Amino acid sequence: MTCFMEGNIVSSLSESNGLAESGRQCGGGGTGARPGRVASDERTRLNERPPLDERPLYDVTLSYEDNYARGPFGRFAVPCHDPEACSSSVRHDVLEMSVGVPFGIPAGPLLNSRFTTAAFRRGYDLAVYKTVRSRSWPCNPFPNVVAVHPRSADGRLDPRSGESDDGVLADGNFTDPPSISNSFGVPSRDPDVWQPDMREAILAAGPGQLLIPSFQGSRVPGMGTAAYVDDHVAAARMVCETGAGLMEINTSCPNEGRDRLLCHDPRLVGEIAQAVKNEIGDRPLLIKLGFLADDSLLEEMVDRTVARGLAQGLCAINTLSARLVDSHGHQALPGKGREHSGVCGAAIRDAGLDMVRRLSAIRERRGIDFTIVGVGGVAGVDDYRAYRSCGADVVMSATGAMWNPDLAMEVHAFESSHE
Ligand SMILES: Cc1cc2nc3c(=O)[nH]c(=O)nc-3n(C[C@H](O)[C@H](O)[C@H](O)COP(=O)(O)O)c2cc1C
Repeated sequence: MTCFMEGNIVSSLSESNGLAESGRQCGGGGTGARPGRVASDERTRLNERPPLDERPLYDVTLSYEDNYARGPFGRFAVPCHDPEACSSSVRHDVLEMSVGVPFGIPAGPLLNSRFTTAAFRRGYDLAVYKTVRSRSWPCNPFPNVVAVHPRSADGRLDPRSGESDDGVLADGNFTDPPSISNSFGVPSRDPDVWQPDMREAILAAGPGQLLIPSFQGSRVPGMGTAAYVDDHVAAARMVCETGAGLMEINTSCPNEGRDRLLCHDPRLVGEIAQAVKNEIGDRPLLIKLGFLADDSLLEEMVDRTVARGLAQGLCAINTLSARLVDSHGHQALPGKGREHSGVCGAAIRDAGLDMVRRLSAIRERRGIDFTIVGVGGVAGVDDYRAYRSCGADVVMSATGAMWNPDLAMEVHAFESSHE
């Protein structure tokens, strides 16, 4: 039986939490009493999935700092040399702007202007600059990206099931299509660093391309609600100073306390959206949401944001929070506060489609005009089509695009064949 834990991720993990040690006992699975322990038949099934051999644009074996300083990596860093494959003569209207193909990379893998510029040159017409803050903020310790293996035969994680709390196997065995967990803690450079870089990122967009800055508020100990709202406004003002024509607020990061997502509180999101809108004026605002299982909560979110014209679009979904365990049921990621982490990629495709479908139904029933950005588990053209047919105006891929630098070209080819 193949060893699950191989490579640099394992050796780094071994220093901190023993995950590697358990992984080295390959084939010793069994059905122990610990929740999350992996049965041997499951291991066999997981090992049957093909490994990913493409070097991802964000190298998961390196630290965040190394990626920030040296990335992007692999073929993604090489511009597309076939202009026809990377561009489209037809234009789509996205948030009142003219865009080639409504497909891109959401907040996350594109750490700075080198990454966003590379994305434009690979045919991603929408590139979201990874979430920034009004102040510098540290990154969680390495590792920040691990592979995850939900139990179901198709590898999907159902957010309404108990699996997220029982434990999802995490290791260094990246398989195709990729399902991963990312645990960064939303790091940010100081505004003195990210503002000039974001300006360059915006200027690098070609015809029919759009750079979307993502930002969020920072809750520090002792901060009251008014100061928290003000911090969003300060960050939005800094984004405006870069020349941005639109922006996205992240209200959905599970790594900051999975039971305390901002998007679980539509009233506060509405208050923040109002304050931010007062600051940014006519610039379109997107609100990034996590998965909201409750229909009435989703409806209230629509009511308090896009229905009042405070935001022009909703982007869904961010990662699904899950308890990550190694093959012995121990906490997979080292350190306090990292028992749960956000799962993304193929595992969350159905959850993302479900949110988009429900948002689209509300939009139609209520006759409210807003943009839906569909995100979650897009690894190929079929996934792009599925999101579009569920009502997404724009589709984005983070995990899929990390390992497939040709994804935008594939979507361009599909769109061209339907012009
Ligand atoms: C490496 C990585 C970093 C991410 N960082 C952010 C972030 O800073 N802000 C944010 O709103 N979402 C972040 N995300 C979440 C993605 O934007 C997206 O919502 C999620 O990964 C689901 O899409 P996917 O299945 O295509 O990966 C990150 C995702 C990845 C893979």
